[in-house]
Amino acid sequence: MENNLKKLEKEFLNNGFVRLNLQKKYINKYVSLKKKIQKKFKFQFKDNNFEDFHKSVSTKDINKIRMDIIKYINSIDQLKNDIYLSLQPFIDSLLGPDIIIQKSINLGIQMPEDKSRALFHKDTPLSSYHEIVLWIPLVDCKKSMCMLMIDRKDQNEAEELLNGKEKDRFNKFVNKKGKLKEINFGQALIFNTNNYHYIPINKTSKTRWAINIRLKNLFSPYGERNLLDYYELLKISPLSKMYYN
Ligand SMILES: [Fe+2]
Repeated sequence: MENNLKKLEKEFLNNGFVRLNLQKKYINKYVSLKKKIQKKFKFQFKDNNFEDFHKSVSTKDINKIRMDIIKYINSIDQLKNDIYLSLQPFIDSLLGPDIIIQKSINLGIQMPEDKSRALFHKDTPLSSYHEIVLWIPLVDCKKSMCMLMIDRKDQNEAEELLNGKEKDRFNKFVNKKGKLKEINFGQALIFNTNNYHYIPINKTSKTRWAINIRLKNLFSPYGERNLLDYYELLKISPLSKMYYN
C-alpha cells in the first residue's frame, strides 16, 4: 500500500514517530539482506529461520554474534543507500535536500526472555533534536517483540519518571502509554531522537530482529554525534555541491 505522505507527516509531527510502509520495490532488498545474513551465518542459524534464532544460539553468545553480523551488514555494498531509498519520499519531505546518514547500520536482536537491553531512554542530548531514527524490523513483530514509543504529549510524564524510585515504574508507564504494539516486515518505524522509547523483555516465543540508523539534515544543529565521526553525506543539493568538497 502506498503511503499518504501528508497524513504521515502530520502524524509524525504530532507524536514524534510514525509507522509506514517501505517502498514496495525495495522490499526485495531486505529479503536479500536476510538471505545473505542467513548464508553467511549458517553455522549459527543451523536450520532455523530468523524468528527461531534463539533455538540455536544462547543469550551468552548473542552479543558477540550480533556484533559480527553488524560488521557483515556494514560491508554490504549499497545497503545504506537502499535503506534510504526504501523510505525516500518520507525522509526527503521531512529533512530536505541536504541529508547525512549515520556511518554504520546498527542491528538489534532481542531473543525471548533476554534481559539485556537498553533502558527507558531518549537519544537526546547525545543526538540533537534534529535527528530521526529509522527502525526497520526484519521479522513481523507483535506484542513484546516491539519497541514501544512514548508520544510527545506524554514527554513530561516520562521525564518525571526518571526521578522516581519504584522499580517497576517504567514497565507500568509503558504498559499504559507505550505505542506500537505491532509492526511487520515491510514496514518501518521512524522516530525523533527526542522521543522516549522502551524495549520490553521479549515474552513471545520468537526472536526479534530490527536494524536502525539515524539521519539528519546537514545544516541542522548537532548534538555530540557529529559529521566527521558519526555521520557521512548521503545527498546534497546542487548548490551545496558547488561549495562542498
Ligand atoms: Fe535509543
